[in-house]
Amino acid sequence: MYRYAGINLSPAKRLLVVSRLRKRIDELKLTGFRDYIELLTQPGTLEIGHLINRITTNESYFFRHTKQFNFFYELLLPVMAERKELTKNYEVKIWSAACAAGEEAYSIAISCFEFHKLYPKLQFKILATDINTEVLQQAKKGQYSKESLQELPESLRDRYFKSVVVENKFSKKILYQLDSKIMRMVQFAQHNLMEPFSEKNFDIIFLRNVLIYFARDTKQRIVNMLQHNLTDGGYLFVSFAETFNDVQCPLRTIHQGIYKKS
Ligand SMILES: C[S@@+](CC[C@H](N)C(=O)[O-])C[C@H]1O[C@@H](n2cnc3c(N)ncnc32)[C@H](O)[C@@H]1O
Repeated sequence: MYRYAGINLSPAKRLLVVSRLRKRIDELKLTGFRDYIELLTQPGTLEIGHLINRITTNESYFFRHTKQFNFFYELLLPVMAERKELTKNYEVKIWSAACAAGEEAYSIAISCFEFHKLYPKLQFKILATDINTEVLQQAKKGQYSKESLQELPESLRDRYFKSVVVENKFSKKILYQLDSKIMRMVQFAQHNLMEPFSEKNFDIIFLRNVLIYFARDTKQRIVNMLQHNLTDGGYLFVSFAETFNDVQCPLRTIHQGIYKKS
């Protein structure tokens, strides 16, 4: 996990890893972890993808760290509008760089859609990536549990979601289906943050609640790479709990969890 995804699994995570992989080992009808390790170390194995899908932690919800979304909507988007007016290039390019099942990227899209009503000239290009292919599949469905919407103001929930009953052989549950016009605003793709990302000139990058899984050297490598994806004057959001204090950061802190390339 460290070599492929930069994820630091300390001995304290042993139980978690065992419980998450036990099912996979049963599915593959292997006798135990020794066989699984052998499978993982075979040249060209596709099992690494399954390992990543099982081990990564994908917890997320809409408008997580609401204060950052307030900052984004109330301060940053107006700055973008002014800046884009000067250059007459009205596209705002945003990247949600560890997007889980799309909660963060769609929260960005909802904010942008609302802002667009006030400032129709702005166009938004929102890319969302994650290493985990299963969460990306979920993101493309746009269906969420009530818990995922816990931070979303009711007025926005009523405007952009409708409840649907999802039934299978074993259960019946109510989920919330996101409006297709918001879904169309986001493009999803798989990307491993350990690799350079070819898209450049992002005005804003969200990289929240993922640095916590990385060792210091991985963090350094990622911040070095990401600065090349940001445009001059671009902004990087991490979560309130994350900082670059322990690495050399070429970006300037402008607010808790918010950095600027200048
Ligand atoms: C806890 S979620 C954070 C989701 C969202 N950014 C948020 O703040 O709610 C962390 C995500 O990082 C992804 N991730 C972990 N290692 C990664 C890597 N090397 N490259 C890309 N994504 C990674 C995981 O798959 C997971 O979906």
